[in-house]
Amino acid sequence: MTSDIDVDAITGHRRMRRNRKADWTRRLVRETRLTVDDLIWPIFLVHGSGITEPIEAMPGVNRMSVDRAVEGVRHAADLGIPAIATFPNVDMSLRDETGSHSLAADNLINEATRAFKRAVPEIGIITDVALDPFTSHGHDGILRDGEIVNDETVRQIARAAVIQADAGADIIAPSDMMDGRIGAIRQALDASGHQHVGIMAYATKFASSFYGPYREAIGTSGLLKGDKRTYYIDPSNATEALRDAGLDVEEGADMLMVKPGLPYLDICRALKDTYGLPTFAYQVSGEYSMIKAAAANGWIDGEKVMLETLLAFKRAGCDGILSYFAIEAAELIARGRG
Ligand code: PBG
Repeated sequence: MTSDIDVDAITGHRRMRRNRKADWTRRLVRETRLTVDDLIWPIFLVHGSGITEPIEAMPGVNRMSVDRAVEGVRHAADLGIPAIATFPNVDMSLRDETGSHSLAADNLINEATRAFKRAVPEIGIITDVALDPFTSHGHDGILRDGEIVNDETVRQIARAAVIQADAGADIIAPSDMMDGRIGAIRQALDASGHQHVGIMAYATKFASSFYGPYREAIGTSGLLKGDKRTYYIDPSNATEALRDAGLDVEEGADMLMVKPGLPYLDICRALKDTYGLPTFAYQVSGEYSMIKAAAANGWIDGEKVMLETLLAFKRAGCDGILSYFAIEAAELIARGRG
């Protein structure tokens, strides 16, 4: 008979629900919190002025011309968001085989950095140095005879990093996964007087299918020939990811990043526990779009799912998150609903 079951004997009087019984007990024992200080807002830039154009695969995210982006960055700073990360949609006429426009002092990234520094000096600016926005083939490096050449790409990325730092970038974030790039960028920055410019290594960037909407956003989806598996990490390899991040630490990375985010929380935890560096997750475009799509269909509560995912990154050991939800999340937090 079930009336004979003695639950006290089973639990030994240890009842987990005692700490869950009321809002005040739950608040008292809460281990992880999401604050506005955890958020980095990635933004997409286009040439021109007065432009705010929607990205179809990322509802709620727009490409902005620099003047419009300045207003967005002002709003982000007012919300208390500590930093932004910039990604340019470069005019096709400026893209070539080697991504040479990455070295132009007045390219879209550098123009934006200067404008943000002038208008919103208190916010941190993180710039990406991969070549993919600038190459006619959409790869992150120089393509020669069907191969992405490593060392020449590294030298060019190091030069581009210096030019970005000259424009005012606070943190350089190389997302290309070439070997030796962290050390090369550190050397180049130091040699040009940029000792205080930091490096956030895309330490473990996986050859993921979650980047699709981003490629639409920066206009590389139609260009990309083949895939990036000769330089990004295979999604099945955690030990290799740890080794790769270890090299970035040795070469002088100040911060580590894991990308994509949610499917790689095991990597976040491993990096944090192993190296102890400030560790970030990039909740990438596909992760964003999936939540938005399900919410738009009424299948999930988009706000709650978003906040739960952001909290999960904190629980997994991340110090912060690059997320297209940054503004929405910061607004919710400001209204006390985070
Ligand atoms: C490439 C780069 C990618 C993203 C940012 N920089 C991946 C790619 O296109 O292969 C993805 C970001 C996202 O999906 O949100 N250097």
